[in-house]
Order: sequence, then structure tokens, then C-alpha cells
Amino acid sequence: MYNPSDYIKNHIRTVANWPQDGVMFRDITPLLQNPKTFRVLIDLFVHRYMDANLDLIAGMDARGFIIGSVVAYELNLGFVPIRKKGKLPFTTMSEEYTLEYGSATVEMHTDACKPGDRVVLIDDLIATGGTMLAGKKLLERNGAFIIEGAAIVDLVDLGGSAMLKKSGLPLFTVCEFD
Ligand code: PRP
Ligand code: ADE
Repeated sequence: MYNPSDYIKNHIRTVANWPQDGVMFRDITPLLQNPKTFRVLIDLFVHRYMDANLDLIAGMDARGFIIGSVVAYELNLGFVPIRKKGKLPFTTMSEEYTLEYGSATVEMHTDACKPGDRVVLIDDLIATGGTMLAGKKLLERNGAFIIEGAAIVDLVDLGGSAMLKKSGLPLFTVCEFD
């Protein structure tokens, strides 16, 4: 029987040893290229949050922008980009974090959200969870309330989703890989 999670998972491509040896890269571009899978994917998020009384959608640089901005548009909400360091022009606040293969800093404009805003934070994938945790910290520093973190893929074995849930963040992911 049709299962949207399996349908989405079956359209994610795995590229071995990219960007470095030992990494199994889960590539979402086939999902985006196919208009049917792109629509199924976006509709999953839209239907989940349509009655959540949200104030805005936030998305992580860069693949979280692709999903998050379309979901925001469909829900008639504004979109907040949480960007890699040095890309935002106005006053910023920043958080450092570590990745599966490196470390980075993300930034958010100081006026991007306000105390009490109800936000869903979107990215394409959770690996170690560092990226989403950094986004959560930025939004919460401004007093926003994160209803849920949402992503297409959970790389369960890397422990990020468990760490995020332990930090108090409810999580929604469409499919899992080892
Ligand atoms: C990837 C992915 C997530 C993050 C997940 O982005 O899109 O944002 O890693 O990893 P984590 O859970 O261990 O933090 P990447 O930093 O590679 O940047 P990109 O979106 O610009 O390719
Ligand atoms: N970001 C961090 N780890 C990743 C992976 N294995 N595939 C795709 N994006 C990632």
C-alpha cells in the first residue's frame, strides 16, 4: 500500500564517500527535481502545520531554505533564514556548532523573530543535530517558541535526533537512514 514516507525515502539518492571518505551522503535533489515527489513532500509539512497557529517558519542554510520557504508560502507565513556566518547584512546573533565533517557558525538577524512567536524550524536532514540545535538556540535567545523541528531525513545512528529530543525539542522527520 502507498506510504508517503517510503515514497519519499525511495527518491533520496545515496552517494558514497562524499564529500569525504566514509560519509554516505543522502542527496535530496532527486526529490526536488521530480514535481510529484516535491509536491508530496511539501504537502506532508503543510498538512502537519496548517492548524498549528504558527507565526513563522525558520529554515537552516542551505537546504532548509528550499523546503522551508515553500512551506511558509503555502501556509501564508513569513520565512526566517538562519544563515552560515557572514551572509546576513543587518545586525546578527550567532551560534557555533560541530558537523559530521567539520564545524561552522550560523547567524540570524536580531529582528527576525520576537518573544512568543510560534515557530517551526525546518532543515533537510538531521545528522549529529548540531545545526538544528544552533538554530533552536538562536530562535530561543529572541524568546521564540519552537513548536517543532522538522526535517526530511533522520540519520538515526548519528544520534542527533535523540540529542535534540533530549534537549526538549519535539521532532518530525519523514524518513530514516542508518
Ligand atoms: C547539512 C544538512 C543539515 C546539516 C545536518 O548541511 O543540510 O543542515 O548538514 O548536520 P548536523 O545534524 O550534523 O548538524 P551542511 O552543513 O552540509 O550545509 P549545506 O546545506 O550548505 O550543504
Ligand atoms: N549532512 C551531514 N551529514 C550528511 C549526510 N550524510 N548526507 C547529507 N547531508 C548531510
